[in-house]
Amino acid sequence: MSAMLDVQNLVKLFPLAGTRKVVQAVNGVSFTINRGETLSLVGESGSGKTTVGRCILGLIDATSGDIIFDGQPMGRGRDIRSKALRGRVQLVFQEPAESLDPRIRIGATLAEPLRFLGVNRADRDKRVREVAEHLGLPARVLDQYPAELSAGLQQRAGIGRAVITRPELVILDEPTSALDPTARAEIVDLLIRLQAEFGTAYLLITHDLSTVRFVSHRVAVLYLGSIVEEAPAEALFARPLHPYSVGLLSSVLLPDPALTRTSAVRLEGEIPSPIDLPPGCALAGRCPFADARCRAERPVPVAVAPQHFVSCFHHDKVAALDDTTDNFARFQEDSARLLSVGAG
Ligand SMILES: Nc1ncnc2c1ncn2[C@@H]1O[C@H](COP(=O)(O)OP(=O)(O)OP(=O)(O)O)[C@@H](O)[C@H]1O
Ligand SMILES: [Mg+2]
Repeated sequence: MSAMLDVQNLVKLFPLAGTRKVVQAVNGVSFTINRGETLSLVGESGSGKTTVGRCILGLIDATSGDIIFDGQPMGRGRDIRSKALRGRVQLVFQEPAESLDPRIRIGATLAEPLRFLGVNRADRDKRVREVAEHLGLPARVLDQYPAELSAGLQQRAGIGRAVITRPELVILDEPTSALDPTARAEIVDLLIRLQAEFGTAYLLITHDLSTVRFVSHRVAVLYLGSIVEEAPAEALFARPLHPYSVGLLSSVLLPDPALTRTSAVRLEGEIPSPIDLPPGCALAGRCPFADARCRAERPVPVAVAPQHFVSCFHHDKVAALDDTTDNFARFQEDSARLLSVGAG
């Protein structure tokens, strides 16, 4: 069975105004998403996550590469706003304010995508009431303006607006980052429930690794516009094999000397700017394993287990690091605690 979304070798370069330089925001990213599945795209700020999402949605044109949704090429003028794909791929933003117009009542905002699809008034009203109920939005909220709602209710409405067309794929760009832990936990529950009921696939773009752990089937780790590791969520959290993934995960695990493996890789310095990237591995300047080959040659993905790919010449050394704790179990506990803060 072919994937619902197939992204191949996606490249996005932004020319830097007034110079001959380019920002290499996305550098040959490939991944697939199947129906009903969640793929999370994680990485530091500036790694290119949002740019990937915007290319898929056709909000910006990719420089090169292929984006195939349900067998149809997307992007480059054939974006999801084209008729055949309308409503099938939707977006949820980090700031609910971005998907909610402050001058429009929530009920009308929810109905808007349906109006765009030509659904008649009576059917729109009916569907809005159904979705509000489904989302746990009190009926009064439909007559309110965004500013009158809490951030959690606003994000619920933002999700409602995205799912009202029963999309097959929802791109969630930092959907929980602006929320407090209680609201975050509620939104995570809602996303899981909607997926179970409607079989919606998600591309989840986030820094928030505790949310990633709860909702993802697979995770792709992005660094300076390249996927450095992709794996089933459990495999990645239990045994990250790219030095960058190890560093990223250890930054969210509680400091504990027993976690020798995760503390063995500390990422030095800041993420460099993706301008004039060096020829070799993009992490070479920050990686404790880097050698001459890493600086000269760009590693390609190697399959280390089913569905688990690592782009690193030294993944065997990472694998050989002492592992005294089951990081995944640990991480699960930590994130459960984080998510339940305030919820009881
Ligand atoms: N329109 C643009 N013009 C020039 N450079 C851009 C543009 N949009 C993004 N960039 C650059 O591309 C790189 C990737 O940006 P992007 O917003 O995709 O990162 P991100 O992973 O979503 O980061 P964050 O976690 O902060 O949201 C960054 O270096 C950013 O400065
Ligand atoms: Mg972003």
